Amino acid sequence: MFDVSLYEKHRGKKDGITVLDSIDSTNAYAVMNSLPPFSCVTAETQTAGRGRSGRKWHSSKGENLYFSIVLHGLDVPKLLPMNIFAGYILADTLSPYADVKVKWPNDLTVNGRKMAGILMETSFSGGVLEKAVLGIGLNVNTTDFPEEIKDIATSLKRETGQTFSREEVLASFMNNLESRYDDFLNGSVDIAKLWSFYSAFLDKKISIHKDGVKTIYTEKGIDGFGCLRAVNAEGRLETIVTGDIGYDICR
Ligand code: BTN
Repeated sequence: MFDVSLYEKHRGKKDGITVLDSIDSTNAYAVMNSLPPFSCVTAETQTAGRGRSGRKWHSSKGENLYFSIVLHGLDVPKLLPMNIFAGYILADTLSPYADVKVKWPNDLTVNGRKMAGILMETSFSGGVLEKAVLGIGLNVNTTDFPEEIKDIATSLKRETGQTFSREEVLASFMNNLESRYDDFLNGSVDIAKLWSFYSAFLDKKISIHKDGVKTIYTEKGIDGFGCLRAVNAEGRLETIVTGDIGYDICR
C-alpha cells in the first residue's frame, strides 16, 4: 500500500497528495477535479491509463508509479518546454540509480528500453489555458511485463536488481520539480542545455515518422521552444515541432 505519511515527511510541504486504489486515469482525475497547484494524484493502478497519441499506458497494480501533478502559471508556449523540463527533472532524479536517457519529446529510456512516459493534459476555458496536468508513468518494480511490451520496456528494478520505495522515488521527484519550477517559470532555465545532459540520440541517427512517412535525420538537440533540431539526409537543418510525430531509434 502506498504510504502517504512517508511521502509527506520527505516533502515537508503542505500541498496535498491524493492516493487512490484504482482509477481510470490519474490525469483524468486531476483534470476533472478542482485541486490546488502542485497537488499530486497517484494510484495503485489505472484501468484506462492514457499514453501519448491515444495509446494505452499499462498500469499493473502496486508496483509502479502513476501520478499526475497540477501545475500553475503555464501558458500555451510553455507547454512543450514544460514537457522537456519534466523529462529532465525525472532523468536527474533517477540518474543515481540507472543510466537514464531522454528521447524527444519526453520518454525516459535505459539501455534503449522505455522506463517512463510523460503525458501533459490541459483544459481550456474561453480559449485560455485553465489547467495543466503533468502525468507520469514510471516503471519502478515491475519485472514481468506483458508480452507486447516486454522487449521495449524496462523498470528501475529490472535495470538494477533492487526493489525501490515508490514513495521515496515520488518524493524526490516532487522535491526536485518544486525546487526548480520557479526558475523554469521565470525563464531562467536553459532547456536546450538541460536536454543535452541526458539526450539518448544527440548527434546520432534517428528516424522520425510523420503522417506515415519515415525520414532519417541526425539529432541536433532542441531549441528554446522545445522543438527538435535535426539534420536531414541532404544536410539541411529542420525543426521538428510537436504533433502526431512518431519517433524511434534508427535501426
Ligand atoms: C507515454 O505515452 O509515454 C505517456 C504515458 C503517460 C502515462 C501516465 S500514468 C499517470 C498519468 N495518467 C495517465 O492516464 N497517463 C499518465
